[in-house]
Amino acid sequence: MRAVVYDRYGPPEVLRVEDVERPVPKEDEVLVKVHATTVNRLDVHTREANRRSGLAVSFLSRLVSGLRRPRQRILGTEFAGEVDGVGATVREFAIGDQVFGNSGLRFGAHAEFMCVRESARIAPKPAHISFEEAAAVSDGALNALWCLRGADLQKGQKMLIYGASGAIGTAGLQLAKYFGADVTAVCSTKNLELVGSLGADRVIDYTHEDFTKNGETYDFIFDAVGKHSFKRSRDSLRRGGCYLATDGFRNLILAMWTSRIGDKRVVFQIPPRYTKQDLLFIKKLIEAGRYRAVIDRRYSLEDVVEAARYVETEQKTGSVVLTVSRA
Ligand SMILES: NC(=O)c1ccc[n+]([C@@H]2O[C@H](COP(=O)([O-])OP(=O)(O)OC[C@H]3O[C@@H](n4cnc5c(N)ncnc54)[C@H](OP(=O)(O)O)[C@@H]3O)[C@@H](O)[C@H]2O)c1
Repeated sequence: MRAVVYDRYGPPEVLRVEDVERPVPKEDEVLVKVHATTVNRLDVHTREANRRSGLAVSFLSRLVSGLRRPRQRILGTEFAGEVDGVGATVREFAIGDQVFGNSGLRFGAHAEFMCVRESARIAPKPAHISFEEAAAVSDGALNALWCLRGADLQKGQKMLIYGASGAIGTAGLQLAKYFGADVTAVCSTKNLELVGSLGADRVIDYTHEDFTKNGETYDFIFDAVGKHSFKRSRDSLRRGGCYLATDGFRNLILAMWTSRIGDKRVVFQIPPRYTKQDLLFIKKLIEAGRYRAVIDRRYSLEDVVEAARYVETEQKTGSVVLTVSRA
């Protein structure tokens, strides 16, 4: 089968398409013929061994994915496709079922076929959306859901989402609205319309207005793109308010510190632990018309290097899809 492989950590150019052996499902696994996948920030961070985050984080990253070279040669976490085979004990899925999901740190989705445990994050694809849309929903949604769960968001509470146009941001915005929050979304000029269309109550263009200077305060500031900071946004938090972080080693320290001291907290829960139930929850929202995929660009599997370069610009809106094989 065709797959995108890499044998050393580095820039997008370490990726190449190669013929590799098709995986064989173990008894509790489903073999998925992948129609669409994505290139996301987890793929980028892993491929680079998190070198941009400093030596300590890079070392931790290598501990997880392989000290000298990557243990798992095929990246890709999000997938949508058709069941092509099942192990002996699999009951939930049958050959021909249309499925979607997220393999997390097991990766493997940048390939024509992948194996996923039946009990892992794999679910029937919502019938009315395409494989590309189904591949594009899980990364942002699962990450955002994990962050919002840490916030214990209540109906009517005020949340500001910084970086509301990225994968986690577009997901966080839709989920926060679903949970009944009053949402102010922050993004750049080119994304105002998109973010408004996702249900934001207010949209701030950060190229014209600094939200920390307009006197408004919030119960939560969700830094969905890791470009703001607790220090800069603290005065915009109400007493008891939380800054929700998605990135940054310093936020780990601040989370520990502010859990004991002060009346405003940093919440940063890593590693994220999302479950099959979370995926089924997202599926239900999609089917109810309460959640949709945001796709920026589409590439073919062969153009993975170009796709990865684009993701690295940190300018994608929502997701970047790789089409693997036609349904
Ligand atoms: N997705 C994952 O699997 C994953 C895993 C681990 C960690 N993370 C972390 O979570 C964060 C978000 O990931 P993501 O995948 O959602 O990001 P993303 O989709 O790559 O975010 C891109 C968006 O960020 C906005 N942006 C770029 N620079 C900005 C700035 N200086 N200020 C405000 N907005 C800016 C851009 O929109 P505008 O032009 O509108 O600003 C762009 O639409 C990242 O820090 C990432 O490292 C993600």
